[in-house]
Amino acid sequence: MVITIKMEQKVKEEKYYNKDLKQRHSKICFQKSGQYCWETPQEFFDELNKEFGFTIDVCANEENHKCDIYFSEKDDGLSKDWKNNVCWMNPPYGTKISKWVKKAYEESQRGVLVVCLLPSRTDTRWWWDYCMKGEIRFIKGRLKFKGRNTKGVMVNGPATFPSAIVVFNKTK
Ligand SMILES: C[S@@+](CC[C@H](N)C(=O)[O-])C[C@H]1O[C@@H](n2cnc3c(N)ncnc32)[C@H](O)[C@@H]1O
Repeated sequence: MVITIKMEQKVKEEKYYNKDLKQRHSKICFQKSGQYCWETPQEFFDELNKEFGFTIDVCANEENHKCDIYFSEKDDGLSKDWKNNVCWMNPPYGTKISKWVKKAYEESQRGVLVVCLLPSRTDTRWWWDYCMKGEIRFIKGRLKFKGRNTKGVMVNGPATFPSAIVVFNKTK
């Protein structure tokens, strides 16, 4: 009798646990796909631009590019050579973010200076494989981003995550 009750309790707990897991998961998926292009606040960029003097924005489009020269999705900045540039990189925050961080690090090893605005995801492999080799500047509080959600609506609000600037500069 006691065993049966315990079993029933366990099944019930598992059911709730799975339901909870599902809810948390769908929340994460919604956030990922609901707003994937976080445009850098202009004043924040201007401050860094004063310090570094960017010559190219390596991930942008015609609406949000921060430098006159930029790579868009059509150009595919990942497949391009970034040499002879001082690069600004605020990459798409989807599953490809690790490819962008890897590319930024590798370009820096060839003498390119790359400054990245990234979500400070210190629990990811890309953070430990690459960001830890750069100069990290954690951002206090949360940036206010502007961008289009998947419905094409322009939204402006505080990020749901902390951010950091990571500077990849081999000469330092
Ligand atoms: C987070 S937004 C950054 C926008 C802007 N550069 C800024 O700092 O505010 C990322 C941009 O990368 C663009 N993008 C996506 N895939 C790309 C690719 N393969 N090559 C270049 N740009 C890409 C997106 O269209 C989007 O505009």
